[in-house]
Amino acid sequence: MKRILILDDDQRMLDALRRTLHRQTEDWAVTFMRHPEAAWEALQKTPYDAVVTDVRLPGISGLELLDRIRQNERTKDIPVVVLTGLNDRDLKAKALELGAADLLNKPVEAGQLIARLRSVLEAKTYQDDLRATNTSLTEEVRRQDADLAQSRMSIVCRLGMAAEFRDEATGNHVIRVGCYSRAIAAEMGMSRSFLEMLLLAAPLHDIGKIGIPDGVLLKPGPLSDDEWVIMKRHCEIGERILREQSKVVVPLIDWYAVESSSIKSALENRDPVLDMAATIALTHHEKWDGGGYPRGLVGEAIPFESRIVAVADVFDALTSNRPYRLARPEEEALSIMEDTMGSHLDPRVHAAFIRALPEVHAVRDRFADDAIVFPHTEGASR
Ligand SMILES: [Fe+2]
Ligand SMILES: [Fe+2]
Repeated sequence: MKRILILDDDQRMLDALRRTLHRQTEDWAVTFMRHPEAAWEALQKTPYDAVVTDVRLPGISGLELLDRIRQNERTKDIPVVVLTGLNDRDLKAKALELGAADLLNKPVEAGQLIARLRSVLEAKTYQDDLRATNTSLTEEVRRQDADLAQSRMSIVCRLGMAAEFRDEATGNHVIRVGCYSRAIAAEMGMSRSFLEMLLLAAPLHDIGKIGIPDGVLLKPGPLSDDEWVIMKRHCEIGERILREQSKVVVPLIDWYAVESSSIKSALENRDPVLDMAATIALTHHEKWDGGGYPRGLVGEAIPFESRIVAVADVFDALTSNRPYRLARPEEEALSIMEDTMGSHLDPRVHAAFIRALPEVHAVRDRFADDAIVFPHTEGASR
């Protein structure tokens, strides 16, 4: 049912229109009004599909009403048909300029009015459909963006787990390191976006282990000096895997002429999560006193995010079962960490970790390793 508002101060005219329109149009609900202010009020309450207005009205004129309708957010899309005198050229020009959908000469002939109304209603329906399509397209794009973000998150997590599965068989380790790191950073007052990035980037700290030969990575006993040199390469390998993204992706986009703009921009742009992950992969074994590897960075020269991940990683390694030893009780783990604070770990980050312990416990419960897959053998923690 289409809602139409007809405005004219001539009661006889309205009566005549009422009779004709009633007979000819069953799918229209037509309201007749004589006062423009009352019509304006009605327009604010009811979503009309079309307005027909005379120009000369008591109070404000039909053109002023037209102007108001066009300026108002609620009513700006309602088509307005203006009734004018036969020779009123200036008025007609003004009405069109103000956005009248159509003009009709007075006296109005009912058949003509119905024909004009049909055509403006049709145009309005078309416009409404178009707008609805646009809205649903916008929603679709938003949904695709969310899907893309989710699949990126999922890929990042799985990549981290793939690396850990090779040597530790504890996929949950990488998730816990992400959560612990986030909890520490939150204690240190970092921004929400930093926390979100760290949560995704930290699990990739050991991705470079993919490039370490099994003979070294899976060796049950302690590593020789030469084997340690190989093992330590996982930091640089990890950084290369994560940092050189665009070199891999841009030729793919060109070769297959990828067109989806959201996928394209997601692939082309430098991904801040991968950037942070690359930094962490390279520097998570640096130590506060400069005794770490691969660069031997000292103190605050070690990237902040890596100092956080170092604390999270050490704690989780100490409190988890490993192929070469059983998990230590938390108290013992905390006291070992306390001892290495200032030599291995950044004291400020360590203090934040202690404050975050309640959340750390919640994470450990939620993402516990449900089974010990590897037998216990003696060996060094790497
Ligand atoms: Fe590592
Ligand atoms: Fe780790």
